[in-house]
Amino acid sequence: MTNQLTRNFLAAIGAAALATSLHSEEMDKMWGDNVVKLRPEDAKRGQLFADGNYAMFIHWGLYSHLANKVDGKTYYGIGEWIMNPRMAGIPVPKYKEIAKDFNPVNFDAKAVAQLAKDAGMKYIIITSKHHDGFAMYDSKVSDFNIVDATPFKRDPMKELAAACKEIGIGFGFYYSHNQDWTFPGGNGGPPQDAEGNPKDFGDYFEEKCFDQVNEITTEYGQIEIVWFDTPGEMPKEYVEKLCDLVYKNQPNAFISGRAGHGLGDYQSLGDMEVPVENVEGLWETVDTTNDSWAFAWYDENYKTPKTILGRVIATVARGGTYMLNVGLKGDGSIPERAADGLRGAGEWIAKYPQVVYGTDASPWGHALPWGDATVKDYTVFLSVFEWPGSKGLYLPGLKTKIKSAKLLGSDAAITFEEKDGWVKLSLPCDAPEKLVSVIELEMDGKPEADHTFGLDPNVTTRIEATFATASEKGVKKSSKRWMEKFGEWKHVDQFSNWQEGGAAVFEVNVLEPGDYQVDLKYAGEERLVWKVAVEGGETMQNQQNSSHNYASFPIGWTNFPKAGKYKINVSCIEGETKTASLAGISFTRIP
Ligand code: GLC
Repeated sequence: MTNQLTRNFLAAIGAAALATSLHSEEMDKMWGDNVVKLRPEDAKRGQLFADGNYAMFIHWGLYSHLANKVDGKTYYGIGEWIMNPRMAGIPVPKYKEIAKDFNPVNFDAKAVAQLAKDAGMKYIIITSKHHDGFAMYDSKVSDFNIVDATPFKRDPMKELAAACKEIGIGFGFYYSHNQDWTFPGGNGGPPQDAEGNPKDFGDYFEEKCFDQVNEITTEYGQIEIVWFDTPGEMPKEYVEKLCDLVYKNQPNAFISGRAGHGLGDYQSLGDMEVPVENVEGLWETVDTTNDSWAFAWYDENYKTPKTILGRVIATVARGGTYMLNVGLKGDGSIPERAADGLRGAGEWIAKYPQVVYGTDASPWGHALPWGDATVKDYTVFLSVFEWPGSKGLYLPGLKTKIKSAKLLGSDAAITFEEKDGWVKLSLPCDAPEKLVSVIELEMDGKPEADHTFGLDPNVTTRIEATFATASEKGVKKSSKRWMEKFGEWKHVDQFSNWQEGGAAVFEVNVLEPGDYQVDLKYAGEERLVWKVAVEGGETMQNQQNSSHNYASFPIGWTNFPKAGKYKINVSCIEGETKTASLAGISFTRIP
């Protein structure tokens, strides 16, 4: 949990701090202490969030019209930041001029709502005003909005709210309450008004922010969530005023974890982060169908249906809600490949809704080598991504007895047998599903399992460094975050600062004794020598090259002489050890 919180800290700070240089003190300030704080009445308020488990995020604004190209030059990164100095650095007057050409005539609210429904998403959260300050709705507070400043003249938020209501899915708004790069006094905005009068955050709050939040929570029907973002150093009094306003206007609404000062209703993890270990409480992961939140003309790196399913199921299996973003194009249309991925995953979810909706976290506390597990009362749904066929499916460390096992979508009978604390399910050769096959287990009580990673006899077992502990001295475990492209966040838990005697200690549970191939996932410079010492088994070491990207390198075979639990000490012992960052280990049984 601590790891996770640390990672969340860095995650959300990172995204917020993009406006300023990435000094750690600035990053530290940009985060609200996002602790889960549920009030008694939340039980009924949070139903759609807590049970829906899957939602659509939409980034759509003036920046979509640019699609990351300015004066013929393409900027790579999250498109909604195109105006910011860390991207194209467009001056305010020039940016405002763009509104004259923004005319999204291909926007079809019903098509957007239908896509969310077809995808299996329970609600839509769309950008009403992003960091650039442009309102995508008919605001009477500022005429820098889609009705007053563009030839479009329509209020697409009204149309989308109505479409969602008609089709029966929830609706809510993203609102950037702290950053406003075009309004005087907004964080990152001009320090004076057009007449040269100095303006501070209080002026921005009184003259724009508070009244716009009032507009979006009174003029668009029932709002499920107000998704505040990047609270930064916003004084607590302002966040409290906004929260009180939201709850007054929308008593059933939830407020995102990025409101600031821990005043949200749930935790919002960092951008694009699907945690590898279960996270307690109400929380969400926000992710995007490709690499940018807003539409970027070059960004065709869309997630396939299987990848989307993997991330939805992984998030729900860790105990959270997955909100997946679509960046509508500048003309208002939906990118085809985003729709294809969502529909492909949605068809599966429509067939197996019981796996995703109203389910809770895996009893194992993490994914399993062949897939993942979600739970509803005494039922466990095993989502099998890597079908083992006649070799059988292995469940390590189950503490609750299985009463029955059923392969959904198939008439094939499943038998199961227990051995040394493991269960082996006998399966048909062919998987009933192309994407993910589901086995339903009825348990003889609340499903519980040992969280120790079992080395699967058939499938490579990959264990993230998250699950390892650091030796007393000689190594440091920490979370690391970086941007692949601007605003495209990645993160790992990793071991670094290697000194004599330092080790990352993994614990595993072995069913089948014998030889296993060991690979290590790490980043570093030059050639590094790694030592892998199995307590009660062999010690081996090898020199391998390294990469500045995290990659897996083969280290060699090791042996587990008998079934049972083992500790494995991994150390970086030679080479540029201070550059070595260990992110994981994997074991593949040698048959
Ligand atoms: C970060 C970015 C913002 C984006 C949000 C999505 O806060 O600053 O552009 O809308 O992540 O989670």
